[in-house]
Amino acid sequence: MTLVVEAQHLQKRYGDFVAVEDVSFSVAEGEIFGILGPNGAGKTTTVECLQGLRKSDGGELAVLGLDPRSESEELRRQIGSQLQESALPDRLKVWEAIKLFSSRNPGGPPWEHVLEQWNLAEKRDASFGSLSGGQQQRLFVALAVANAPKLVFLDEMTTGLDPMSRRVTWDLIRQIREMGTTVVLVTHFMDEAENLCDRIAVIDHKRVVAIDTVDGLIEAHAGDARVTFSTDLPDLSFLEALEEVAGLDRNGRRVTVTGHGALLARVAVALDSHGETPVDMDVKRASLEDVFLNITGGNVT
Ligand SMILES: Nc1ncnc2c1ncn2[C@@H]1O[C@H](COP(=O)(O)OP(=O)(O)O)[C@@H](O)[C@H]1O
Ligand SMILES: [Mg+2]
Repeated sequence: MTLVVEAQHLQKRYGDFVAVEDVSFSVAEGEIFGILGPNGAGKTTTVECLQGLRKSDGGELAVLGLDPRSESEELRRQIGSQLQESALPDRLKVWEAIKLFSSRNPGGPPWEHVLEQWNLAEKRDASFGSLSGGQQQRLFVALAVANAPKLVFLDEMTTGLDPMSRRVTWDLIRQIREMGTTVVLVTHFMDEAENLCDRIAVIDHKRVVAIDTVDGLIEAHAGDARVTFSTDLPDLSFLEALEEVAGLDRNGRRVTVTGHGALLARVAVALDSHGETPVDMDVKRASLEDVFLNITGGNVT
């Protein structure tokens, strides 16, 4: 496994203010690696240090085998990076933008190819300002990878987009990975991280508080399954006696059982053997949101 990013104990201050305290993670070639955390957690600062756009104050960084502090020029030729929204003049034409960004890496594909690849040939002569939101997004993605990078950094790519454009952008990001490019994706959206990322570093209060796959995070931090149903049975101690059951909470007829393993099946069978077959039985899988609440104590935005 080749590591394309290695960060150890990254630290960054703005004057006296510590923006990133202790961030360590590594990214393997070919994955979509998520950096997830609330606003102000230090995500952007982290990826700016990795891209050589800011100089870190402590820790060890290696990106594509280069040191972002001393080799930032070479590094920026080799990585792709997402533009901030305001970065393109309205009158710039689509082909001009792509040509400009392709020229960053002379060894990359011809710009005409990039235009085709991202379905922008039809919009070739359109000005940036005349594109729809979705088309602008497509152009931003094309520009981020126009220099055929091995690694691309995308920071809050879908913030402010309508649900439809978000989905389209998710597909574009998957397309980047299918081309063999490793993606570091910064987001504060849990559904986005859950949908796209192979692994996720959760950052909170300037530190990495967990790193794993989505399933691994859920298993470790929100492993409990949750089964709910309604019943008139007065005594449910037979459920609490089950090995899979960790907790039972009752609110009138409504009962919530938490636990692990084959919880749903065991609870259903036990109820059935007591003459109860609830029609409203429901099981909820924990989500990344539960993980987040458990780790950070609910500090979501
Ligand atoms: N140029 C800067 N000067 C001073 N403080 C900054 C600067 N950029 C970011 N910060 C502060 O550093 C912290 C982390 O910011 P940032 O890395 O942008 O977080 P995130 O991307 O997770 O929202 C925030 O408290 C932010 O206000
Ligand atoms: Mg940010």
